Amino acid sequence: MSYLQQLQCSLSGELFPADRIQQLSPAGRPLLCRYDLARIRAEVDRDVFARRNGGFWNYEELLPCQDYARVPRLGEIRTPLIRVAHPHMRLTIKDEGRLPTGSFKARGLALAVARARELGIDKLAMPSNGNAGAALAAYASRCGMRSLVVCPADNTPQMNIDEIRMQGAELELLDGMIDDCGKRVRELIAGSDWFDVSTLKEPYRLEGKKTMGLELAEQYGWKLPDVIVYPTGGGTGLIGMWKAFQELKALGWLEQEQLPRMVAVQASGCAPIVRAFDEGAEEAKRWEHADTLAAGIRVPAAVGDRLMLQTLRESNGTARAVSDDDIVAAWKQLARDEGLLLCPEGAATLAAAQQLADCGWIQPGEDVVLFNCATGLKYPLPD
Ligand SMILES: Cc1ncc(COP(=O)(O)O)c(C=O)c1O
Repeated sequence: MSYLQQLQCSLSGELFPADRIQQLSPAGRPLLCRYDLARIRAEVDRDVFARRNGGFWNYEELLPCQDYARVPRLGEIRTPLIRVAHPHMRLTIKDEGRLPTGSFKARGLALAVARARELGIDKLAMPSNGNAGAALAAYASRCGMRSLVVCPADNTPQMNIDEIRMQGAELELLDGMIDDCGKRVRELIAGSDWFDVSTLKEPYRLEGKKTMGLELAEQYGWKLPDVIVYPTGGGTGLIGMWKAFQELKALGWLEQEQLPRMVAVQASGCAPIVRAFDEGAEEAKRWEHADTLAAGIRVPAAVGDRLMLQTLRESNGTARAVSDDDIVAAWKQLARDEGLLLCPEGAATLAAAQQLADCGWIQPGEDVVLFNCATGLKYPLPD
């Protein structure tokens, strides 16, 4: 049983059936899941989630699957909120590195794999900077499905390469960026029955990432922090959390009117969303010669650019680029001072939060949540 009603084009608003295989809308834009929120409001009590123990699967009434007895499970948990001392703000890190496959990509890919299986698909392909490929490989193998991943050869972390292979995916390494890998995937699967699960090119990964927002709201007692700082590549997490907050608001489940200000953090060597935000643009131009050690956010062009920019503006948020040196400094600082080993993308959020506090954008005493999206143990560590 699912409360999912239809899929809606994020640009035109046109509606499409959810009971068949869909990719992008005819307008070439992401399709968004729309639920019968009035029925959920009448039939579901938000306290039910606290009594469940299945991590992101807890939120099944707000997810698109039909049969939760058959979804792939690998020991999903609610990821912890870890308070970190800071002289200026109330700083909390949501540590997504504790999820199966060691990253938040488990959320999106578990949903995409589960839904693909319900729709009769058994071969899934996509480009990845590493963590998403690992999560796809794991959840597809868990379901007895095949998976194919194309990663950039130059800066995909070795651990990602090893885990993708070991968890049963076919892997190709390509000389290029993630969007070049996306083109290669399309070439490889053209005319076959392989399905493309690239970021936002099917509707369900976003629903998995949405659970970060649902879980955060539940952990905060159905209130929310003032600011959320998110390392932004394809942007599914940013868009997904904002979608979660809109749905929770429509359901009347939030204890406060005010939603968090959403902050997109990118690396100075690849910051197409920051540039577009600063220019007041509605779409982001491709970032040429992208370069950063934070592989997960080396995304020169994203199909969700409009949705990300809308999210930042609607939430009165902002976008910030940080240098690799700042990332490394924040990475070392938190490990040394707090014993918490972030991933480089998580360290980027700390560097950005620090800068936003220094310039007064984050006010004294504000409640700020940073997303550490993967375990630091996957990465070669700086000296
Ligand atoms: C560790 C890490 N952080 C951040 C990101 C970016 O996430 P999103 O695609 O939701 O913007 C990725 C994506 O690969 C990642 O692996």
